[in-house]
Amino acid sequence: MNDIVASAEKVSKNFRTAPDFAEKLAIRLGAASPPPTVRALDGVSVQVRRGEVLGVVGESGCGKSTLGRIMAGMLPASDGTVRRNGEDIATLRGAAAKRARLATQIIFQDPMSSLNPRKRVGEIIGEAPRVHGLTPRTEVPALVAELLKTVGLDPAMADRFPHQFSGGQRQRIGIARALAVKPDFLICDESIAALDVSIQAQVINLFMDLRRDFGLTLMFISHDLGVVRHIADRVVIMYLGRVVEVAEADTVFEAPRHPYTVALLDEIPRIDRRARRFSAIKGEIPSPLNPPPGCHFHPRCPHAFDRCRVERPALTTLAPGLDVACHLNDGRGLSPEQQEPKGD
Ligand SMILES: Nc1ncnc2c1ncn2[C@@H]1O[C@H](COP(=O)(O)OP(=O)(O)O)[C@@H](O)[C@H]1O
Ligand code: SF4
Ligand SMILES: [Mg+2]
Repeated sequence: MNDIVASAEKVSKNFRTAPDFAEKLAIRLGAASPPPTVRALDGVSVQVRRGEVLGVVGESGCGKSTLGRIMAGMLPASDGTVRRNGEDIATLRGAAAKRARLATQIIFQDPMSSLNPRKRVGEIIGEAPRVHGLTPRTEVPALVAELLKTVGLDPAMADRFPHQFSGGQRQRIGIARALAVKPDFLICDESIAALDVSIQAQVINLFMDLRRDFGLTLMFISHDLGVVRHIADRVVIMYLGRVVEVAEADTVFEAPRHPYTVALLDEIPRIDRRARRFSAIKGEIPSPLNPPPGCHFHPRCPHAFDRCRVERPALTTLAPGLDVACHLNDGRGLSPEQQEPKGD
C-alpha cells in the first residue's frame, strides 16, 4: 500500500458561484434562483506512486488546481476519499494530520504572490520549520543556508528581500521554503508557467535533481502537454472535471488513445512543422456550469456518435497502466456503420 504516496478515490468537488449584490437581492425577492453550482471535479480517481513524476494535464478550468488542493488537504472534497500513505486524510487528527499536511507541499505559479514582500528570504524559508518545531531556533540559519544551496542560490542572499530576485530565483526561494518542512510529496501547480522558456528548463532540472536527491514524489500540473513531456513518468489527462486518459508518458506521446489527448498532442509546436496552436481542438471549452451530457468532449470530438451524447464513458483499463474513458475503446461503442454486419 505504501508504494502509493497519495490517491484520490472518486473525488468530486462542487463550488457554488458567489452571487453579487444585485443577484443576492433578486434571490431574496424570489426574482432569481440561487446561483448555479460548478462541478469542478466529477468522480476523479488518481494514484500517485512513490518516487514518480505524475503529470496532470488539461485546458484551463478542467479542475487541475482543485485536484491539487484537495490532495494537499487544503480544500475538502464534496465527495470521495483522499488517502495519504493509505490513510484517509479526513480521519486524521492532531499530530498525524499536521504531519500529513506538512509532508505535502504545493509550489504555485506565481511565487511573488506567496512570498511576503516585507520579510527577508531567510525568514521566509526558516519560518515554517521554526514555528512547527521541526528545527531548533539556533539551527535555522544553517538550515536556510543549506536549502539555498540546494536550490542553486547563494546562501549570502538570505538577507535580501523577494523583490531583489528574478522570477526564476523567486521560484527557487518558493521551492526552498517548501523543502524546509521535509515533504516527501510536491505538487507543482503550473510552477514554471510564468517563467521564460530558458528558465523553465533550469527549474525543471532542479525538480528532477530534488526528486533524485531527496526521493521526492512529484505531481506536476500543467496546461501544456509539451512541458510535461520533459518531466513526467506517467500522465493523467483531464477534461472538464473528469479524467479521460491515464498512461505512461511514452504511450501518451506515441500512441494516445483518447481523442482529446490526440488533439492536445497536435497542439504541441514541433520543430519539424509550424505550430498549430488552437487549430487542432475545434470549438470552445464548454462551461463547467453547464457541461454537455454524456461524454463532455462530444461537441468537439471528430469521432462523436449517438451514444457519446447521452452516456458517460467509464474510465476503463485497456492494458496494464493504460486507462481511457471513451466509447470508441469499447466493443459496444461502435456506431452502426462501423459494426460488422451480423449474419442472419
Ligand atoms: N473557489 C472557487 N469558487 C468557485 N469556483 C471555483 C473555485 N475554484 C475553482 N473554481 C471553478 O472550478 C473549475 C476548475 O477550476 P481549477 O481547478 O482552477 O481549474 P484549472 O486549475 O484546471 O484551471 C473552474 O470552472 C473554476 O472556475
Ligand atoms: S466517448 Fe465519443 S465523444 Fe467522447 S471522446 Fe470518445 S468518441 Fe469522442
Ligand atoms: Mg490551475
